[in-house]
Amino acid sequence: MSEEGPPAALADTVLRFLCHDDIDTVKELCADWFPIEYPDSWYRDITSNKKFFSLAATHNGQIVGMIVAEIKSRTKVHKEDGDILASSFSSDTQVAYILSLGVVKDFRKQGIGSLLLESLKSHISSTAQDLCKALYLHVLTTNSNAIRFYENRHFHQHHYLPYYYSIRGVLQDAYTYVLYLNGGHPPWTVIYPSLLVVTSRLMGVIMS
Ligand code: COA
Repeated sequence: MSEEGPPAALADTVLRFLCHDDIDTVKELCADWFPIEYPDSWYRDITSNKKFFSLAATHNGQIVGMIVAEIKSRTKVHKEDGDILASSFSSDTQVAYILSLGVVKDFRKQGIGSLLLESLKSHISSTAQDLCKALYLHVLTTNSNAIRFYENRHFHQHHYLPYYYSIRGVLQDAYTYVLYLNGGHPPWTVIYPSLLVVTSRLMGVIMS
């Protein structure tokens, strides 16, 4: 960001929650952003059901971006992602799934996507949600812009999911990306490189 302050569009961006009256606009935006078709019930749910965190970024009253996420128990995680958290976390541990994140083309690369993501992170890290240990999402393997966006914001690739999406009748691969929060971590243990060197040297001494 420049020393002159945020870009005009970001400075004029106002955040608010989505509501029922936004359904038609949200449908148009999603049709533009995503190759996936969602049923009408999905649009009704994300704009009305309180279990979703559905935040819109508006500019002069128009929606120019949105993020939709669901905070849920780790037991409700997609089957294929059942291992995003170590089994030591109790079943009431929460995770958050990003169903949708998009910004209108003319408003991209001005910080609005980051603002929406940061708002979600603040929400799930707030006291009431402090059990939330991971934020995850699915992304098409071909969506390099989004992959770079998430990787630059410390999300890690967790799974490769072959033929995960059916897009206009063609099966396409996806990745699961995860960001660990509030002390969350995956099942496997991270061994620090220095520890690995010490351990292998020790093994060498023992074996010799
Ligand atoms: N000047 C120059 N670059 C800037 C900038 C500025 N003032 N402000 C932000 N940027 C850069 C960011 O550093 C970032 O770079 P990076 O991706 O290499 O890290 C890039 O612009 C995008 O960041 P930001 O502006 O915060 O996001 P965005 O508003 O462009 O939204 C997406 C990002 C992914 C939501 C958007 O590209 C999009 O809607 N894509 C289509 C839908 C989609 O694929 N969604 C994800 C599905 S999983």
